[in-house]
Parts: sequence; structure tokens; C-alpha cells
Amino acid sequence: MRKSFSDSESFARIRPKGGKGANRTTRYDDDAFADYTARFWPEASEDVPADGAAVTDGPPEGDRWSTWDVSTPTEKGPEPRPDWVVTDLAAVDTELGIVKTGKEADVFLLERGVPGSDRRTLMAAKRYRDGQHRLFHRDSGYLEGRSHKESRVSRAMEKRSAFGKQAIAGQWAAAEFAALSRLWLAGAAVPYPVQIVGTEILMEFIGDRSGAAAPRLAQTRPQGEELDDLWEQLGRSLSLLARDGFAHGDLSAYNILVHEGRLVVIDVPQIVDVIANPRGRSFLERDVRNVGAWFVSQGLPERRVEELAQALAFDARLD
Ligand SMILES: Nc1ncnc2c1ncn2[C@@H]1O[C@H](COP(=O)(O)OP(=O)(O)OP(=O)(O)O)[C@@H](O)[C@H]1O
Ligand SMILES: [Mg+2]
Repeated sequence: MRKSFSDSESFARIRPKGGKGANRTTRYDDDAFADYTARFWPEASEDVPADGAAVTDGPPEGDRWSTWDVSTPTEKGPEPRPDWVVTDLAAVDTELGIVKTGKEADVFLLERGVPGSDRRTLMAAKRYRDGQHRLFHRDSGYLEGRSHKESRVSRAMEKRSAFGKQAIAGQWAAAEFAALSRLWLAGAAVPYPVQIVGTEILMEFIGDRSGAAAPRLAQTRPQGEELDDLWEQLGRSLSLLARDGFAHGDLSAYNILVHEGRLVVIDVPQIVDVIANPRGRSFLERDVRNVGAWFVSQGLPERRVEELAQALAFDARLD
């Protein structure tokens, strides 16, 4: 018998440890949060045993059933879905190791495959931290111009209760998933977002088949035509973002991966709506200057940076 995701090992990772957070969840009952709570803190709902004891059989030790059917349609990546995405219900997720621990999230390498078949794919699992997760190190200016609904959830977040923190982590995960989906649809070079489950985003793994992750731009030393080509690729993606009305908001040679000559922009939860945000233009320019400084240090003529900054302001209709 197939066990439900809520009983699985991995589930333990995305719910608060112990009962404390769970008890608190029942105090906040607006619709969105009730839904969130019921799905990710099942011990708060009556029909699931609190100790998750009803497990009979399951995937091999250390694995979990594919979480594909746990996500609702809006929690799955945009269509048309790339054909490497494994949607089989019989698939199993195997965690192969950690790619990198970051300031706000940890990124793991995950393989999703159907046992006994060659249907398998690697994904990057980005898990936002709860406990020590802080309300972004990033400038609070990012949030200007974003509507903020006063709710019990936001009050819980302000109080930093256990689930308040979890809800913050979940919101940043949701923000990044939405941004990836939007940017992917706009045609920008970002990892394809496969699905979101609570505080975890599963996305296209940028790297090779053996599981070696692509280097960050800052770790590479492209020269001549190669450098030019990367600058062109970056310009095309940023232009698509700008035409869609967005700046990355935290762009640097560390938030760009390069896999076999293909440039991919990552780490997008804070994308800035350059029209609604009163400092939109300065975010746009700062992105280009930050990453431009790295390109100039590798030999790109400085005027190309200025040209791109102007072109993007035009694309975003800011001049
Ligand atoms: N889709 C991916 N494919 C391969 N590697 C990835 C992917 N996404 C992230 N990584 C790796 O994980 C690192 C951290 O990811 P990311 O920048 O999104 O998270 P972060 O929490 O902001 O980390 P940091 O604090 O280091 O910026 C990246 O620098 C990259 O090396
Ligand atoms: Mg980063």
C-alpha cells in the first residue's frame, strides 16, 4: 500500500519539531492558513495520527515517494512542461547529497525516478530554513509597493512563533516559485520550477548527469568570445525580465550558474517590480553594475555595462 506523503520521512523535515508549533496552529484560522496548516502540519487536523504510526510499507530506507501528487496544479511548474519532468506516481525521490548551504536556504541534489525503469531525472531541492530563518537580510526596500494583507498569519509572523517562522520560510519559497515560473514563461534563462511543497522548491538541476553542479559565474574565467557570449546571454535574459517589468534584485556573479557555456540566473525570491517599486530604477541599475563589475574585471569594456543599464531602463519603459 502506498503511504501518504504526510507519513513519510521527508515530511518530518518540513514541519516543526515537537508539538509546540502544531498546537499553536489551531489558533489562527483564516482560510489560507487553515489550508496551509492542514496540509503541512497534519497533526493539527483530526484524521491523521499524530505519531504518523500508520505506515505499513514504503520506498527503500532514506527515500520518499515522489511528492509530485502532493502539489496542487498551481504548485506545479508552468506548461508546457519539459519532457524530463517525471510525473509518474510510482516514482521515488532519492536524496543524493547537499549541493550547498546558503544564508537562507540549503540546496540538495535529488533524483526522482521510477524504480526498475530508466525514467529518472536530477533536481535541485531548495529548502528554506525555518528556525533561524530571518526575515530577509535583503533591503526592506524590496517590499515597498507590494501589497500586504493584514491577517492572522501576518500577525503570527510578526510574533515569530514556531509556525510564524515556518510561514515566513513558506512565503519566501512561494515567492521564489512564483518568480521562477513567471521568468521561465517570459523566456528568461532560469531553472525550470518543477513544484513547490511547503518550504521546499524542486527545480531543474543545473549541472551534469553525474550530479556535479554547474559552477557559479564567479568561479569561472571566461575570456574573449566566451566572455562576450556570456554577457550577451545575460543581457537577453535581463531584457526579458525588464520587459516583463522586473529586476532580479540581488544579481551578482554568485547568483548566476554557467553550465557548458549556458548561463542560468538563480536565486530569484526577491525580484523587484520596477514599476510599482519607487526605487525600481535603482534596483535595475544596481543589478547591472554589480554583475557588470565582475565582467569588467574579466576584460569586458566598461561602456558595455552602461549600454546595458540604459537598454534595460528602456525595456522596462522607465525612461
Ligand atoms: N538549480 C540549481 N542547480 C544547481 N545548483 C544550484 C541550483 N540552485 C542553487 N544551486 C546551488 O546552490 C547555491 C545556493 O543557491 P541560492 O543562491 O539559490 O540560495 P541562497 O540561500 O540564496 O544561497 P546564498 O546565500 O549562497 O546566496 C547556488 O550558489 C548554487 O551553487
Ligand atoms: Mg544565492
